[in-house]
Amino acid sequence: MSDDEMDIDEVQTSEKVVFSSKEFEKGKKRIAADLPVTIGDNLPWVEKYRPNTLDDVTGHEDIITTIHKFVDTNRLPHLLFYGPPGTGKTSTILALARKIYGPTRIRQQVLELNASDDRGIEVVREQIKTFASTKQIFNTIAPAGSANSSLASFKLIILDEADAMTSTAQNALRRIMEKYTSNTRFCIIANYTHKLNPAVLSRCTRFRFSPLPPMALRKRIDHVVAQEGVKITPEAIDALVTLSKGDMRRSLNVLQACFASSTPLDEKGFSIPDGPKDTITEEAIYECIAAPQPSDIQTILASLLGEDISTAVRTMEQVRQMKGLALVDVLGEISVELGKLEVAPEVRVKWLEGLAEIEWRLGSGGAERIQAGAVVGVVRSGVELMERKQQPRSK
Ligand SMILES: Nc1ncnc2c1ncn2[C@@H]1O[C@H](COP(=O)(O)OP(=O)(O)OP(=O)(O)O)[C@@H](O)[C@H]1O
Ligand SMILES: [Mg+2]
Repeated sequence: MSDDEMDIDEVQTSEKVVFSSKEFEKGKKRIAADLPVTIGDNLPWVEKYRPNTLDDVTGHEDIITTIHKFVDTNRLPHLLFYGPPGTGKTSTILALARKIYGPTRIRQQVLELNASDDRGIEVVREQIKTFASTKQIFNTIAPAGSANSSLASFKLIILDEADAMTSTAQNALRRIMEKYTSNTRFCIIANYTHKLNPAVLSRCTRFRFSPLPPMALRKRIDHVVAQEGVKITPEAIDALVTLSKGDMRRSLNVLQACFASSTPLDEKGFSIPDGPKDTITEEAIYECIAAPQPSDIQTILASLLGEDISTAVRTMEQVRQMKGLALVDVLGEISVELGKLEVAPEVRVKWLEGLAEIEWRLGSGGAERIQAGAVVGVVRSGVELMERKQQPRSK
């Protein structure tokens, strides 16, 4: 052992492990990977169908292949997983931990901290340092099914949602990551890398979890639909895939919400739990997400492009109020539809600039009704520009 300052654990005879840090004992962490299977039925589907193994993780084939290689060659670097929510970062590291340690040793060898924990310097000084600095002298039996006894002797520290850590804590982490590399691996998970210290970033091998492609979402949705016996139309699945925008968590939550509301009610208005379920339709999915339906967008667009300003404003308000749509969602869809039209570059620039400005104003708290008027103004001024170009002045 090269590092003299390193503490040494007692050999663990029972499964119950006691760590020396008082904070750690107090916290009594329970990691998600360790949830008892028996409560699976009451869990929300996102948890019930959280991938158990690396092969259950859909979509990120290249990342999973690389991670498999690291494990097979016994060379696991510090990892950084980053990307938008609901793309499988936490699930992947938990599945990897299960693969390396097996179900029994995972509690002993893995420290999982996430945003619900304190993320200040004390955590790094106390919990992380204490956990990292203790070392097993005897490499106890490798878990069943794991070929990797030497990888399993490493500890794994998972810092989920690490972008919420204070910068002082991140600074302190740099030294700890280097010092305890001989027995500990870190996996840092974040949505945004720009909130992480560059020196921490450079110590990790980075993997970007991009929004999941439609095929990957569909595969998992089909699996859940089959397992739960959900009745759903193919168009509804298409809508679910499109509206989830690469976020698997969102798609499963919406599916479960729609499934719950597909339970028919008796004459007193109570749901009949074991009764036959309604088929989930495309409209049900749109309603659940409160996303504008394509037909609503077409109504608004036709009015914006073809009718006079006051009628367009009225149509926009009527549709929005009737369907309870947020202007920002309508704006997003309108800009997609306008982008499909063949128009002169000046007109496109006018629309793009104008709509971007309105989106920014909405984000900073602008009133929806007034900004809805602004949308009409922007689209109409583009249309007028188009008309002026098409009819060059006579004379
Ligand atoms: N690639 C995937 N394959 C299968 N299921 C997935 C995948 N990504 C997400 N899921 C589903 O979505 C749920 C949430 O995924 P996970 O917690 O891994 O997301 P995350 O990337 O860590 O998101 P966040 O950044 O919000 O923490 C999982 O429980 C699982 O059911
Ligand atoms: Mg996560």
